[in-house]
Amino acid sequence: MPFTSSYRLFRISALTTLCIAMLAMAAPALAGGHKSAGQQDILFDPAKRSEVTGTVLVTGANRGIGLALTKNYAERGWTVIGTARKPEKAEELNALAASNERVSVERMDLLDHASIDALAEKLRDVPIDVLLNNAAIMGDAAKQDLGSYDYDEMAKVFAVNVSGTLKMTEAFLDHVAASEQKKIVGITSVQGSIQSLRDPLIPFYKMSKTALNMGMSSIAKIAKRKKIIVALVSPGAVDTRMMNAALDHSGYKGPNFMITTEESAEAVINVIDQYERKHTGMFLAHTGEVLPW
Ligand SMILES: NC(=O)c1ccc[n+]([C@@H]2O[C@H](COP(=O)([O-])OP(=O)(O)OC[C@H]3O[C@@H](n4cnc5c(N)ncnc54)[C@H](OP(=O)(O)O)[C@@H]3O)[C@@H](O)[C@H]2O)c1
Repeated sequence: MPFTSSYRLFRISALTTLCIAMLAMAAPALAGGHKSAGQQDILFDPAKRSEVTGTVLVTGANRGIGLALTKNYAERGWTVIGTARKPEKAEELNALAASNERVSVERMDLLDHASIDALAEKLRDVPIDVLLNNAAIMGDAAKQDLGSYDYDEMAKVFAVNVSGTLKMTEAFLDHVAASEQKKIVGITSVQGSIQSLRDPLIPFYKMSKTALNMGMSSIAKIAKRKKIIVALVSPGAVDTRMMNAALDHSGYKGPNFMITTEESAEAVINVIDQYERKHTGMFLAHTGEVLPW
């Protein structure tokens, strides 16, 4: 059997294993324990809401987890700057901004560094308490199968998830440094954890999150001098376009194990709120669990 055919057969069982592992990881945390199935520490309580408010900039705020994060922050009384590649098509985000004067919409494309610089310049007098780097792409899963790797696709995934996110972080360092809370968040993924690797699917996406983790960890070391906290947070397995595209590619037909964008956003924000300076650079799940690199 050609290698690519056996690889395809491997997909379904691999993803089933991944899903079971994800459920196993989540269960003890949901039960309120202090260790997960992987015996990692539960550092923060994902259900603990704080009263703190400030200004947050959320990238990819027009849909998926980014939209839910934007809505949740707005509901908590934060000032929210939501970015979208195509604001004119961001109907739900625009409706939110129309009904809440603390929510605004800005254009930004991670592939267009000039758009990042332009936004940083436009907001130069705005201290940003939380820079929430949420936007990312998985890339076309079919172009990530060994034997037919598409290297242009690999470059695009890296350009958005790694270069674009680091450029965004670099451009907004001073805005964050000028704020009270001084937090830079990378929405990463357990898929970027080499120690947690259980299947060979979507390697470009996984590699991009591993690279993002290292890039943000490096920034954490330098940004510490400006008292900036860098948080790396995985949002869980969430029912979004991205996750469903991954499931479609795998052929997974088992029970639904995903959480909603609302559940993810609530936990992610609670976890972000609990990061203090001593936690800078730590890689956590939305459950508050410390993840292995
Ligand atoms: N869903 C999950 O289970 C899961 C698990 C682990 C980690 N994550 C991470 O969570 C974050 C959000 O994922 P999601 O599931 O909500 O994905 P999604 O539904 O596919 O949404 C992705 C968002 O990123 C934006 N985006 C894509 N390319 C962009 C670019 N070049 N410049 C600016 N924005 C761009 C999209 O805007 P357009 O609408 O214009 O395309 C969209 O707003 C990502 O970092 C993802 O890696 C998700």
